[in-house]
Amino acid sequence: MNIKKDFPIFENNPWLIFLDSTSSTQKPKMVIEWIKYYLDNCYSNIHRWMYSIATKSEKMYVDSKQKVADMIWADDYKEIIYTYNSTYASNILTWSLRLSHILKKWDKVLLSIVEHHANIVPWLILKDEIGIEIEYINVDENYDLDFDDFTKKYDEKVKVISLTHVSNVTWQVFDLERVGKIKRDDTLFVIDASQSIPHFKLDVKKLNADFIFFTWHKILADAGIWVLWWKTELLEKLTPVFSWGGAIWKVDECSFTYSKLPNKFEPGTPNLTWAVSLLKAIEYIESIWWFKKVEEIENDLVEYALEKFKLRKSVKLIWSTKSENRVWVFSFVIEWIHSHDVADIMAENNICIRSGMHCAHPFLNKIWVAHTSRMSLYIYNTREDIDRFFEILDKIL
Ligand SMILES: Cc1ncc(COP(=O)(O)O)c(C=O)c1O
Repeated sequence: MNIKKDFPIFENNPWLIFLDSTSSTQKPKMVIEWIKYYLDNCYSNIHRWMYSIATKSEKMYVDSKQKVADMIWADDYKEIIYTYNSTYASNILTWSLRLSHILKKWDKVLLSIVEHHANIVPWLILKDEIGIEIEYINVDENYDLDFDDFTKKYDEKVKVISLTHVSNVTWQVFDLERVGKIKRDDTLFVIDASQSIPHFKLDVKKLNADFIFFTWHKILADAGIWVLWWKTELLEKLTPVFSWGGAIWKVDECSFTYSKLPNKFEPGTPNLTWAVSLLKAIEYIESIWWFKKVEEIENDLVEYALEKFKLRKSVKLIWSTKSENRVWVFSFVIEWIHSHDVADIMAENNICIRSGMHCAHPFLNKIWVAHTSRMSLYIYNTREDIDRFFEILDKIL
C-alpha cells in the first residue's frame, strides 16, 4: 500500500521529505477534493435555513460531529463542541469553570510538568484572576507520569486534574486510564489529546474523562477546528464564555436565554469548511484500515529510526528507550549545534523538521535543555525518508 501517493503535496514537491507532522499533518486527496466539492456544490451557512443547500451543509456539519463522537465513544454528537484552536478550547473551558463558580479561590489544579503552554497558560490566568493554586506532577526517569508524586499532591483541595495524553517533547504516552481510576468524583479530569488522537483511538469512558480537547489539523484535516468534548451533564451546568448568534435563543431589551446544546457553546458562524474536511479525514483513516495500519507503520518506522539514532552517540534523544509507551516522534539535542541550525541545514536539503522549545518552557527548563530539534513521522513517511534524514544528519555531525 503506497500511502504517499494519496497526498498530492508529495507529487507536487517530489523532493520534499516531510518530518514535521506532529506540528500539522499533510492532507490526503480525499480531504482536499471533498473541500472543493463542498464549496462547489453546497456551501451555505447552517442553522435557521429553509433551502436545500443549507440542509446539505447542516447535515455534513452534524455528520462530522457524529463521526467524532463515534470515534471517541461519546454518548451524543451534541457533546462535541467545535472551536478555533487549542487555546480557544482550553480558555473556553477554564473561563466557563470560572463563570459557573465551579472553581474558586484556593482550589487546586494539578498539571504535569510536561504540559504544552495551551494547557498551562489558561490555568495561570485563573490563578492571577481568582487565586486558584497550581501544582505540577513530576515525570520519572522514563519521562512517565510519576504516580507517587501524583498521589502525594492529589489532596482534598484538588478540583481539577488536567493532563496531556502524550507529551509533545518526550512523546511518552501517559497512563491516563490509571489516573481516571484514581480520580475522585469531586474532581474534574481534563485531557489534552492533541498528540494522542493522530496515533490511537480514544475512549472517553475508559479514560473516565470529563473534558477532552484535541485538534484536527494534526490528523489529516485542515487547521481551524479543535474539538472540545465534554459530558452533557457538565455542558448543562456551565455558563458559556461567548454568547451571540446561534448560542442565543431569545433576547429582549433586558435579558436573554441560551440556545440548547451544543449551539450554546458555538457562538456565530462555525468554521464550516474545516468541519466538513474533518468528516473526510476520519473516512480516510477508516479507508486504510483505521488505526491498525497507523500502528503497523508506526512500529516499523520508529524501530528503524531508533536503531539509527542509537548509532549516533553524540545525538541525545529526549525520550525513554526503556519504555514501549511512546509515539513516533524524536526530540533530540546535539550539544555543540543550535537546534535552529540543524533545522536550517535540513531545510536546505528539502527536509522539514522543527526546532525550538515546542511551547513547553517549564519542562525544558526543568531538564536544563534550552531547545531541541524535532523529527516526526506519520503514515505517509517511508524508510527512504528516514535514510535521507540521517544522511544529512551525518553531514551536520
Ligand atoms: C500537546 C499539545 N497541546 C496543544 C497544542 C496546540 O496546538 P495548536 O498549535 O493547534 O494550537 C499542541 C501543538 O503542537 C500540542 O502538541
